[in-house]
Formats: sequence, C-alpha cells, structure tokens
Amino acid sequence: MSNILRLSLLFLLTFGITGTINAQINTTIEKSNENLESSERGKLFEWGNYAMFIHWGLYSNLADKWDGKTYYGISEWLMNESMANIDKDEYKAASKSFNPKDFDAKKIAQLAKDAGMKYIIITSKHHDGFAMFHSKVDKFNIVDATPFGRDPMKELAQACKELGLGFGFYYSQYQDWTTPGGFKAPRVDSEGNPRTFDDYFKSKCLPQVEEITSNYGDIEVIWFDTPGQIEKKYVDDLIEVVHRNQPNALISSRIGHNLGDFRTLADMEVPLKNIDGLWESIDVTNDSWGFAWYDNNWKTPKQILQTLISTIARGGTFMMNVGPDGLGNVPEQAAASLRSSGKWVARYPDVIYGAQASPWKHKLPWGDVTRQGNKLYLAVYEWPKDGKLYVPGINSFVKQAKLLDDKTGKRIKQTLNGNWLILDVPYQQPDPMISVIELEMKNNDIDVDTTQALDPEIGLPDLSVLFADTENCSTNKTTWREKFGEYKHTYIVSNLNKGGKITWTVEVLEPITCQVGLNVRGNGRSVWELKSDEGKYIQNQQRATSKFSEVPLGWLKFDKPGKHTITLTMEKGQNPADISSISLIPVKF
Ligand code: GLC
Repeated sequence: MSNILRLSLLFLLTFGITGTINAQINTTIEKSNENLESSERGKLFEWGNYAMFIHWGLYSNLADKWDGKTYYGISEWLMNESMANIDKDEYKAASKSFNPKDFDAKKIAQLAKDAGMKYIIITSKHHDGFAMFHSKVDKFNIVDATPFGRDPMKELAQACKELGLGFGFYYSQYQDWTTPGGFKAPRVDSEGNPRTFDDYFKSKCLPQVEEITSNYGDIEVIWFDTPGQIEKKYVDDLIEVVHRNQPNALISSRIGHNLGDFRTLADMEVPLKNIDGLWESIDVTNDSWGFAWYDNNWKTPKQILQTLISTIARGGTFMMNVGPDGLGNVPEQAAASLRSSGKWVARYPDVIYGAQASPWKHKLPWGDVTRQGNKLYLAVYEWPKDGKLYVPGINSFVKQAKLLDDKTGKRIKQTLNGNWLILDVPYQQPDPMISVIELEMKNNDIDVDTTQALDPEIGLPDLSVLFADTENCSTNKTTWREKFGEYKHTYIVSNLNKGGKITWTVEVLEPITCQVGLNVRGNGRSVWELKSDEGKYIQNQQRATSKFSEVPLGWLKFDKPGKHTITLTMEKGQNPADISSISLIPVKF
C-alpha cells in the first residue's frame, strides 16, 4: 500500500460524545513519511482546504413533514423512530412522488466553484437506504424507483469534471433502515426469512460501494458515516474496494476502527486549539443537512468565512453543506451566502488555498491567522475602532505589514511594545466583509508567544476553560443538541464546588480594568471567587440556568504589564455548575 497515509486516531469520533480533555487534545494523527503533496492523492483535501457537502435524497422531497406534521431536526433522519417513525414500506412508497425535475448539475457545480470550493461530496446513499445513483443491486434508487428516472450522480460527476472540481461520495455503510439486515432495519425479509448484517453487507453495501467507485470517474473522497458497531472485517472489505478502484481516493475516519485517511471532527465543530495531521470540520449553511421546508436559519457570508478561515487556522480543511430541495434546487439563501463568501475567497486566495495553521495555535480576540511560508495573514473579523490593531506575542522580526488587497502596496506603520506589535490601521474598515493584513516575517522560522493575550480594545471575550490549568478538577468536552441532530460543543469544568481551581495565564499590554463575566450552566445560585496574582479579588454570587449564559462577576484590575494568572474557585458546597469560559472586557474611562 504505497503512497497511502496511515492515520492513527486515538479515539473514535462518532456523534454525541462527552470525553475527557486528554482524549481530545492528545489525539495524534501520525502521517507516514510519504509526502502527501508529492502525489495527487489528497491534494484537493490538503491544499484546497474547502469543499461542498451535499445532502440530497428522498428525504429532501419530504422536507421534514410527514402526514401533515412538521418535524424539527435533521431532515435525513425523518424516517427514524426519533423523528416521524415512518413505516419502511410507506417510506419506500414515497419515492413515487420524488421527481427533482429542476436538478441542474452544472448549476450546482458552478455554485461550488463560485463559492471557492475545490471538490464536492454528495450523499450516494444515506441511512434511509435510498440510492441517489443507478444501482444494479438494489431497486430502491432514483432511477428505478422514481418518475425522475435519471442518474443525477452521473451528471454531477461530469459537471465537476468540466469545471475542474474534485468529486466524491458520502455512503452510509452501517445504517440502512430499509434493507433487511442493515442496522436499524428489520431482521427478516418480506417473506419472513432471517436476514443478518452480513446479508445486507454482501448483497447491498459492498456491491454499491463497488458501483460508486467504478462508474463515476475519478473520486477524491469516499466519505463513510456512523460506523456504530461495524466489525473490522467489513471495514477492511470496504477499504479494499475503494483502494482497488480509486487508488487516489481518501477515506473518511467515520469508516470506523480508526482506519480512515483523515479525521472528521464531530458535526458542526471547529476546534479551539490547533490539531496536527489531516482533518476536517463540517458544517451546514442552515441547521439541517437535508432540506427542511421551514429551515430558514441561514449562515451569513461572514459567518461562513469565519468558520472557513478559523478551521484552516487550526490546521484543518472545511466542508460546508447545502441541502437541495425535492425539485433539485439549492435554496437561494444558501446560494447567495456562498456566492458572496466566494467573492471574498477570490479576493484573498492565499488566505485559503495551501494555507497553513496559525502559529498562535488558537483564535485571537479580533480574528484569526493563516500562513504561507514567511507570510502571516491576519483576518480581522472585528475591525478595531481606535485605528490600532494589537498583535500579541511577536518574537520574530516583521519585515513589513500591509493590507492584503491594497494595490498601492502602501505599508502599515508598525511599532513594537515588548512583544506586542501595534499596527496603525485605517479607521474605516477597508473590506466591509473581513479585512486581511499581511505580515511579512523575516524568514520561515516564525516564533510567537501563544499565551492568551488581553487585547487593550476587545479584551478576551471568550476565554475557554480549555486554556486553563486545573487543580482538583478536570476539563471535559460536552456535546448537546439544540434540535435533533443539530450539535453544539463546548469545554467545561464541572466540579469546582468540591474544591477545584482553574487558572488562566493572560498577557497584558498596559494597566487595565476589565469587566469579568462567566459563561456558565447550572441550577441555582453559587458563590464565585476570582483572584489575580496581584492579589486582586472578586467574590460574588450569581444564578446559573440550564442553558449556557453569561453572568457578570465584577471588575478586575491588572496593575502591571506582562503575564498574570487569574484563578477561579467556588465556595465549597455550592450548587454545582458547568463553567465554559470567562470573558474579560476592558472598561473605557
Ligand atoms: C451524522 C448524521 C447524518 C449526517 C452526518 C453529517 O452522522 O447521522 O445524518 O449525514 O452527521 O456529518
């Protein structure tokens, strides 16, 4: 297996996990010595950094409504018992009214291209078992079971090829709710004969993976999902088929048994700290992967760009989902946001393509940073109001700073105060979306101090417990769902009322007073104490509610510039609460 990356994932990412911080942070992904960039394999993933995910299937036509009732949650799960609990045969019969006559592969591929994306991954078969391609092994597919009668995957593969985009398939290997033997499907066939997972796997799953890897030209990625309890022998079989038919395709970590070529984080998760190795974050233009008629909660172009840039800044690749409707149209709002953010990407290609992770290893208060060689791209999400951008922790020589899209090449005046670089930037935000400043460093050996720094203007609005040292308590990741299937993630420390302590180290440029808030979840009142290394002290009682929200603690003053510690404790025996982050907002006098 020459030229193949082997990643070892220390834990299996599925969905809905709460794990300890050590498991999260120590996840190492070992690359083989072979240089990925020396081959075509994985190039679009690693260099392109940006992809379109498409969830499209029979569920798109149902649009989260069944028998006149609307269900809230990810629409591709509508059939499942957690949602509408639809009878298998009734669900299958619904394919008769699926006729996506507006489907225009070229239009969708063009949208991905205009968005600045480099490849498309589309659902070939989701958990409902319905194939969106012409399968010879199972009639429950878009050609044989619908009035549409075309193979849209052929058209999309072709359209991608014409536009120079990569193409790949999502395939749900373990769950198949309509094929006897598949996970969550009946264990008997229509005649009452027993059907095992092995039957489903050999008669449908493996042959269909054979089909999608043989009949659609070159494939970038086969994106398996929800491995559940699948046995390793099945995973080995799937890998063998993919490697044999598509030696250049990468396989997602959700194939199971830590056997993927890259790691997909949990749905809708951008990590707070840099992660090494090949990995991706995935998100949705609204809330549901598949089309849901009511789902109008669109991400703005700026939100899309921030997630894209911050994912790359953490060292990853980003994949953004669209859910075409039952007629085959991508909702106009999603398309508009993607086109607009795509125009930004076209103005700043170096911030995205081939860009590397931020040397700070986490977000900065005003935005994030990507890198190419000796150039740092400061993507300023929140443009400063006082004409100064504060760049903390600079230990290397900065040759020059300029606005990235400034054709005049005019330099930005820079001053160094300790290791804070202070840039004199225009008062008016140059790019109404996100402005980018290019810092050209003397050489590729860039040294920055990664300590969390208190921006004199913005402070530290969201300093996660992930950046704190803990004593007699631990940091855990918690994941919850707002609607069914719509995940949120954060890190928490939970047991401070048993004598635990959390200590953050922050860098301060000048004497400063901050309003301190706690982002907390709990049940009832608790007394909090926050103490700095200079002996300043806040003690206050606040009420935590069941949803994370910010409660104010009080003012904290830092007298001296430099590094400080602040330690949070709770009075013993108080109501337990989960602390997610602290906010330090400078007070203006
Ligand atoms: C989850 C869901 C699935 C969705 C996927 C996207 O695994 O089960 O419906 O396709 O996330 O990442």
